[in-house]
Amino acid sequence: MARRKIIAGNWKMNMTPSEAKALVETLKDLVNNPEVDVVYCVPAIDIVPVVEAVKGTNVEVGAENMYIEEKGAYTGEIAPAMIVDAGAKYVIIGHSERREYFKETDEFLNKKVLKAFEHGLTPILCCGESLEQREAGVTLDWIRLQIKSDLQNVTAEQAASMVIAYEPIWAIGTGKTATTEQAEEVCKAIRETICEIYDEATAESIRIQYGGSMNAKNCDELLAQPDIDGGLIGGASLKPDFGRIVNYVK
Ligand code: 13P
Repeated sequence: MARRKIIAGNWKMNMTPSEAKALVETLKDLVNNPEVDVVYCVPAIDIVPVVEAVKGTNVEVGAENMYIEEKGAYTGEIAPAMIVDAGAKYVIIGHSERREYFKETDEFLNKKVLKAFEHGLTPILCCGESLEQREAGVTLDWIRLQIKSDLQNVTAEQAASMVIAYEPIWAIGTGKTATTEQAEEVCKAIRETICEIYDEATAESIRIQYGGSMNAKNCDELLAQPDIDGGLIGGASLKPDFGRIVNYVK
């Protein structure tokens, strides 16, 4: 069976609650495509208003991060149960910005992935290489290592239901998109890694997104690749362009 495409916006640290509601309203008619899963991953404080604002539409909501503990003295953190109770279904885990600025390690991210599943949240697990790594020719080795480390003790059934986003760090927010061939090569390698860890059926079922300067112009070609099952969109998710990506041309 063909995998259903999943187009997710990662709003990052943008949109106050009132701006968030206005953006959902602006995008409402533009993101209406029943053939595609559409997700808005939003700042924690926007989850409640955005869940409310997307009611009755095809859009689901995700968090951009969460903590690994159930509750307690972790000032400033967001518990998985809070995200679930607020009505979100997805959570981004291991975005390169969190790895870099907040020093999140693969060991820690593995705990987050397991915790997300414990609470019935679908992880969107991010991986990606730096420019130095690409130039040194170690991209595929690095990505395999990230995936294997982050998926320790994740069952095949869980892996089959999750989303992995390949986001080359050098392509994020730079306007520099990976070429279609570069993006497909890595997404294919991720699927092969899943096959190696689990089996063919899990690899066929898991959805792999490309992220990094995906926009209204380059989305059709990227989304036409056999191993690219969607996009994780930063900048363009805050604009009407996001509707064009959701309605990519086959
Ligand atoms: P841009 O689309 O702004 O390059 O961001 C990509 C990204 O980091 C999505 O998670």
